[in-house]
Amino acid sequence: MGFVVAVDGPAGSGKGTVTKLIAERLNLVSIDTGAMYRCVALDCLNKNISSSDLDGIANILKNIKIELKKENGIQKVYLNGEDVTEEIRTAKVDNVVAVFSAIKIVRDKITPLQREMGKTENIIMEGRDIGTVVFPNADVKIFLDCSLEERAKRRYKQNIEKGIETPYEEVLKSIIERHKLETEREIAPFVQAEDAIYVDSSNLSIEEVTNKIIEIINERR
Ligand code: DC
Repeated sequence: MGFVVAVDGPAGSGKGTVTKLIAERLNLVSIDTGAMYRCVALDCLNKNISSSDLDGIANILKNIKIELKKENGIQKVYLNGEDVTEEIRTAKVDNVVAVFSAIKIVRDKITPLQREMGKTENIIMEGRDIGTVVFPNADVKIFLDCSLEERAKRRYKQNIEKGIETPYEEVLKSIIERHKLETEREIAPFVQAEDAIYVDSSNLSIEEVTNKIIEIINERR
């Protein structure tokens, strides 16, 4: 087993950016597990498989090939041989991924793939259930929290930058809905592991969060 850092946190907590920065500075392999669930959702969307069609989803899972690889320093995501790095971040995937990722057969397929990645390399893995389910014995566990309002503000700003005009209230509502789905689902709900270290990013910059987590990791290494 390599050295494993587990980072769990909600969308908008900055965990994706922070995890990549920490990986670079500490020479760890960073793994974005949300991207894997996004691939499952995209494959189902592309093949017109609804979230209630469990046979159809089982079929997708039987043949799915997800690759996370670094190309010229940039993290890329491949689904069945096709570069989907951008497409998995679009609204059509955002809108359905929480539902697909709550399905038992989906998690039963994806979780072992994630465990496999920690066997040989030193990793920092981010998601919702890394410290609770995927690596309950991780060397370091971080729970990176952020208030719903701050997450909505960040998403609202990102939307504006992308030229998408969605009222703040609507953005906040969709964040609250997604949060409810993720924290209240039966399998691998998004909760803090008992032994995780709590970090609140609501009032911290990316740099401050990164430094704080690096300090915690260095204490344990
Ligand atoms: O982190 P993200 O927003 O890219 O995650 C996409 C979806 O996948 C989100 O609805 C939560 C889910 N997810 C999960 O259930 N377990 C993980 N370890 C990572 C993500």
